[in-house]
Amino acid sequence: MIQDEMKRAAARAALEHVVEGRIVGVGTGSTAKLFIEELAGMKDRVAGAVASSEDTKKRLESHGIRVFDLNEITDMPVYVDGADEITPRMHMIKGGGGALTREKIISAVAGKFVCIVDGTKLVEHLGHFPLPVEVIPMASAYVARELVKLAGTPVAREGFVTDNGNHILDVRGLRILDPVDLETRLNQIAGVVTNGLFARRPADVCLIGTPDGVRTMSAD
Ligand code: 5RP
Repeated sequence: MIQDEMKRAAARAALEHVVEGRIVGVGTGSTAKLFIEELAGMKDRVAGAVASSEDTKKRLESHGIRVFDLNEITDMPVYVDGADEITPRMHMIKGGGGALTREKIISAVAGKFVCIVDGTKLVEHLGHFPLPVEVIPMASAYVARELVKLAGTPVAREGFVTDNGNHILDVRGLRILDPVDLETRLNQIAGVVTNGLFARRPADVCLIGTPDGVRTMSAD
C-alpha cells in the first residue's frame, strides 16, 4: 500500500470518532486534507468545523462544511489532525505545515485528540524530524541564539509566514528526553509563540495506517 493510501485509511477511520450533530476540529496537512474529503461524505450530519489554518478553512468551505470561529465555541468533542512524529506515549512533533499554534489552541479546547498518521510517523523517541518553533518576527535572531544554547541548530523556514504573521525556526539536534519539560521550557523563551512539541496535551487516540490495515493506539 502506498503512503497516501495508508493516510487515507487512517483519515477514513477517524470518521468513527466524529460526533454527529456537533462541531469537529480539523487539522492541517496532507492527512488532514484527506480527512476533509472523507468528512465531506457526512457533512449533513455535523454542525460544522473549526479550522486550524486558512488552507483548511478554504478546503472545508469548498466542500460546503460550515466553519466556525473558535471564539463562538465553548466545547468541542473531537479534534482530528496529523503529526510529523508520534510516540507510543502519544507525544507528538507537529508543525511541518506551519500551523502548530492554531493546532495547539484547538486541541486544547477539544475533548479528544484523534491523531491520523501513516506508519512512518510512529517513532520510539521524538526528534528526528526538526522541531518547528513559531516566533514573533522581531525575536527570530534572539530565539535562535537561545536555541543554540540548548544544543539546537535552528534554521529559519525560508519565505514562510504563518497564518498569524510569524516566522518558523526548524530546530535539529535538541535532545528530547522529556518532551513535557522541553515543551514548557521552549515556550518560556521571550518571542516564542509556541513550539511543535505536543506533549502537555498529547493525542488520546492514534489511528495508524499500515499495509495491514488501520491500527489503533490509545493513551494508557
Ligand atoms: C501541520 C501539521 C501536520 O499535521 C503535520 O505536518 C503532518 O502533516 P502531513 O499529514 O502532511 O504528513 O502539524 O502544521
